[in-house]
Amino acid sequence: MSRSVIDIIDLTKEEIDQLIETAEDIIADPEKYAHICAGKKLATMFFEPSTRTRMSFEAAMYELGGYVLSMTDAATSSAAKGESVSDTAKVISCYADIIAMRHPKEGAAYVAAAAASIPVINAGDGGHCHPTQTLADLLTIKREKGRLGNLTVGLCGDLKFGRTVHSLIQALSRYEDIKLVLISPDELKLPEYVYSDVIVKNKMKCTQTSDLLWALPKLDVLYMTRVQKERFFNEEDYVRLKDSYILTPEKLALAKPDTSVLHPLPRVNEISVAIDDDPRACYFKQVKYGKYMRMALILKLLTEDGTIIY
Ligand code: NCD
Repeated sequence: MSRSVIDIIDLTKEEIDQLIETAEDIIADPEKYAHICAGKKLATMFFEPSTRTRMSFEAAMYELGGYVLSMTDAATSSAAKGESVSDTAKVISCYADIIAMRHPKEGAAYVAAAAASIPVINAGDGGHCHPTQTLADLLTIKREKGRLGNLTVGLCGDLKFGRTVHSLIQALSRYEDIKLVLISPDELKLPEYVYSDVIVKNKMKCTQTSDLLWALPKLDVLYMTRVQKERFFNEEDYVRLKDSYILTPEKLALAKPDTSVLHPLPRVNEISVAIDDDPRACYFKQVKYGKYMRMALILKLLTEDGTIIY
């Protein structure tokens, strides 16, 4: 069985730092990497809507000189006929060298990885985790702030269902002197299992509040998130909570002049478009960094697997 990355804890801190180094080298010298994966194939196995994550994996593989096989829509694939995730993963293992997979069910990527004979990268499983978004977030923070430790990081919005938040907290727990400020309405607080297994266990400094204005002046990084409509059990709750936080230029005026504003995207209305030109807005850069980190991860897994020599 090949090595897969399902959760961010599947990578050690040293490996993450190494991936960041590789991504920065790719940014500095893309030509050097342009043919490394020549003839190799990435399959995207997406059972849930996605624009940037899927395209980012595809762009990453093309920029490494490889090919892409795309399953973009579960409704038009054999999943619609009742094929299991493990059978689909076994079948794709016969065509491709590596899989990037997204699924609405928590844990689905583990099932695929157990069945596949090639590496599987989790591109988001339900409300559980999203390790490659975290890699993008870390590279963004590193490039914007010059470091990954000694930071006050505010996470705002849907901390309950937001899988990117769960993975990011897990990753940040490995760095020195991180202070978390968790900003959410009561109903969208971080799940207890993340709070106790990550924050408490690693003795992270952490404050919980529902007051974004109170938190803003303290933050080095503000990570905004969308209220995850598709994970709500009823429309009424979503409608009541969807506008909990809307970052406007007036509110951002309370932040430090160098606070970096991140968002995994897609944005609905939680960051006003009037902020897009503010030098503190990093979310479109974050998209670019995501591609470079995915390139670094594909390279790492295919190298370890013996599929490419580099
Ligand atoms: C995130 C996701 O899918 O969890 N999007 C992404 O991958 N960039 C965030 C979201 O959908 O809100």
